[in-house]
Amino acid sequence: MFRIGRYTIDPPFLLAPMASVSEMPFRVLALEMGAGLATTELISAAGIFHKNRRTRQYLTFDRERERPYSVQLFGGVVDVMATAARGAVEHGADIVDVNMGCPVRKVTGSGAGSALLCDVPRAAAMVRAMRAAVGDDVPVTAKIRLGWDDGSKNAVELARALEDAGCAALAVHARTRAQGYSGRADWSQIARVKQAVAMPVIGNGDVVTFADAHRMRQETGCDAVMIGRGALGNPWLFASLKAGRELGPPTPTDRAAFIMRHLGAHLAFHQALSDGEEATRLRTPPELMAVKTFRQHLVWYARGLEGAREFRQRVMALEEPAQVSDIVEEFFSRAHVERRGAAATGDADDVDYAQAFG
Ligand SMILES: Cc1cc2nc3c(=O)[nH]c(=O)nc-3n(C[C@H](O)[C@H](O)[C@H](O)COP(=O)(O)O)c2cc1C
Repeated sequence: MFRIGRYTIDPPFLLAPMASVSEMPFRVLALEMGAGLATTELISAAGIFHKNRRTRQYLTFDRERERPYSVQLFGGVVDVMATAARGAVEHGADIVDVNMGCPVRKVTGSGAGSALLCDVPRAAAMVRAMRAAVGDDVPVTAKIRLGWDDGSKNAVELARALEDAGCAALAVHARTRAQGYSGRADWSQIARVKQAVAMPVIGNGDVVTFADAHRMRQETGCDAVMIGRGALGNPWLFASLKAGRELGPPTPTDRAAFIMRHLGAHLAFHQALSDGEEATRLRTPPELMAVKTFRQHLVWYARGLEGAREFRQRVMALEEPAQVSDIVEEFFSRAHVERRGAAATGDADDVDYAQAFG
């Protein structure tokens, strides 16, 4: 366990914020499996500031099961981030996190995300202003990368400045902005940050197995481990981490039942998001939207199972919830692990993260 401000996070294994993935249904299921904390995907501070309806919908959370509730904001303007932080707290946030790692041009172009790595004084001023806006009871945290590129790695300097500004905990994705999601995460840099600051440091990057998580803790001394892609289609990883031993893959029946629950929650979530919007304004009906956005999860759940390749092609044609239930029943309730550990190792080739991010 470790602490973020007044909150004890136990176990110290966290679901990473992931755009279009770390939505309420997946967050709740990850917590249920054993994750200690599940932060929202990045949410636009400007959207909250302008009380944009869609943005406020992204803030939807489960008031009972998501505690503490951690909201990640992105923005480049200090005052807007401070006001948005207060808005997020009014909406129920217990912890406010600042995105300082997003590599997408649309985000960095406005001085947000990993652009903040290049402007340490502004990044620190942002955390300071947000702290002042939300008060002492609400921890403000940040998630950074190692630096903009190989020639400008400044994670240690940034971490110290953020700590001075009152940052309560820091997640370090051990890649530069230039690396995007490729190349290996350099865990030695997490160790350097950990040695340089007293606030809790959360290590992140390339943890896909139980052994990886423990190796990261040993090699870096980090207080907690954050898992992104390794949890896609494999929230069971959190169950092993919580149990403190590898539990092995779920049985086909358990896997199918879990996916059906995820599907149900995902459908309800999208239905709720569209409630109140005039049908004529919706470009895509909520059910179709829910099925389209669930396809990626089905592909991830099938990773490492026999017949995954053909299954993936069938998934892309799905349009109706009933078709999804049928295919889950048919494929997952008897699908077996093809390669030992494959479900947990995450073949990078079957996902276009850049697209998922956009
Ligand atoms: C699809 C996708 C969406 C992401 N969205 C966010 C985001 O909204 N905010 C953020 O801080 N990081 C985001 N990330 C980065 C992850 O949180 C994490 O730092 C990165 O994937 C490295 O960890 P991993 O190797 O465990 O996946 C995203 C990553 C992926 C793959």
